[in-house]
Amino acid sequence: MSVLLQDQRRGTYHFSPRHNWMNDPNGMVYFNGEYHLFFQHHPQGTTWGPMHWGHAVSRDLVAWEELPIALAPDEHGTIFSGSAVVDWNDTTGFFGGKPGLVAIFTHHLDVPGEEHPVQTQSLAYSADQGRTWTKYAGNPVLRHDSYIDFRDPKVFWHEPMSQWVMILACGQSVSLYRSPDLKVWTLASEFGEGIGFHGGVWECPDLFPLPVEGEPGSRKWVMLVSIGDAPDYEEGSRTQYFTGDFDGERFMPDACSQSQVRWLDYGRDNYAGVSWSDVPAADGRRLFIGWMSNWKYANQTPTGGWRGATTIARELRLKQVNGEAMLTQQPVRELEAYRKPVMTLRDAEAQDISGRLADLQLDGFEIHARAALTESLGSFAFKVRVGAGQETVVGYNAETGEVYVDRSRSGAIDFHPAFAGKHAASLRDGGDALDLRIFVDKSSVEVFVNGGEIVLTELIYPHPGAEGLELHTDDKRLAFDMFDLYEIAVPARDKEYRTE
Ligand code: FRU
Repeated sequence: MSVLLQDQRRGTYHFSPRHNWMNDPNGMVYFNGEYHLFFQHHPQGTTWGPMHWGHAVSRDLVAWEELPIALAPDEHGTIFSGSAVVDWNDTTGFFGGKPGLVAIFTHHLDVPGEEHPVQTQSLAYSADQGRTWTKYAGNPVLRHDSYIDFRDPKVFWHEPMSQWVMILACGQSVSLYRSPDLKVWTLASEFGEGIGFHGGVWECPDLFPLPVEGEPGSRKWVMLVSIGDAPDYEEGSRTQYFTGDFDGERFMPDACSQSQVRWLDYGRDNYAGVSWSDVPAADGRRLFIGWMSNWKYANQTPTGGWRGATTIARELRLKQVNGEAMLTQQPVRELEAYRKPVMTLRDAEAQDISGRLADLQLDGFEIHARAALTESLGSFAFKVRVGAGQETVVGYNAETGEVYVDRSRSGAIDFHPAFAGKHAASLRDGGDALDLRIFVDKSSVEVFVNGGEIVLTELIYPHPGAEGLELHTDDKRLAFDMFDLYEIAVPARDKEYRTE
């Protein structure tokens, strides 16, 4: 396949750098009307290499403008993952009493002759809305004598104790530090031993409070911990979460987080995601974005002059289910502004829908379909990105009670043996509806089931001309209470492709 064709796989409504490599989203912060998104970036190549922080801004989390590189390697090392905050009260003294942006990131240094690199935490600051950055002269601000993996600081202001808190990945655990000024850090506690999944290195943690839906006044803390790829696990890199309490020093997990491993996503391609800092209280959302790839094959995906993208931005919430707080992900409402209605059907029979889909060719789109979840609901499958012998199947299996994405025949699959396959998640008992929102773009499928109780995020690499959409079922009586289909188009999307 030509490089030009591969470049055309850049999503229409997903962020990816114009050129070259990206992995983790970094430093997400909202300030003065702009959402900032920094990202792990290798500006000289399409595979992982010396890390920089690339930079993009958006006013609505959908249309992104890529800006010049924010942070480049220096004498302390390359620039690994981290976070950014608004220092509203100038606790750092960087801003002459005004608010400004501070990035807290990992410096990664390969030392000639040493067996292991050295990872330390450092600061950079910007007084001009993130357009230019100054590295702090006192870097690094945090080091460790024994942890080899000591990285990915996520920092937030903890109001009750008037202090900054940092959660940091340390090998197979996380450490919590606190600071009055982002410069001097004191260890508060560690978390992770004997709990959660340990089949890979812990990376990119996050910690934040969320209200529990339906329980006015109640609040819990959520910890996200991503886990690196390891040869023993076909799932590759993925993200787990814990719910519990946090008193400013220590995280205390709920019973349900002690007895089971809880995954953020049941697809293969939502990794290293963390939440936005400083979203205004009047908005109140906990906004999240992930890296839409997997370390298992991230360096080999067939994408031409760019490689790596983010998921769509999502809102995280906590829902009380059978006495347990469950984390849900839902597409941000801002995406709705880019919808162009193609079909809006109520109480529609599957056969009728299927006939109407036959002539459509769609590039970026959303399906929102809902059916009553009864004993008699039969299996069905949407086939998306159909053409040239290719299809990606998003379906419900009535026998197993599972929702799945099957990308076995989705297009280019042979770039890695672990890529092709079918990935599924079980619906929980007791639901009365099956509500599916399926977001399809040039090289991805994101499925949100029942308000984001289950999410499957998956990369696909169909031929760009494979734009057919089908509905299949053996259940002759299958009907959907609701079937909405929208095209999603972001007009500002740059159309620049590099062909060398
Ligand atoms: C996660 C990660 C981080 C690290 C970064 C390096 O994907 O491995 O732990 O900071 O990527 O690019």
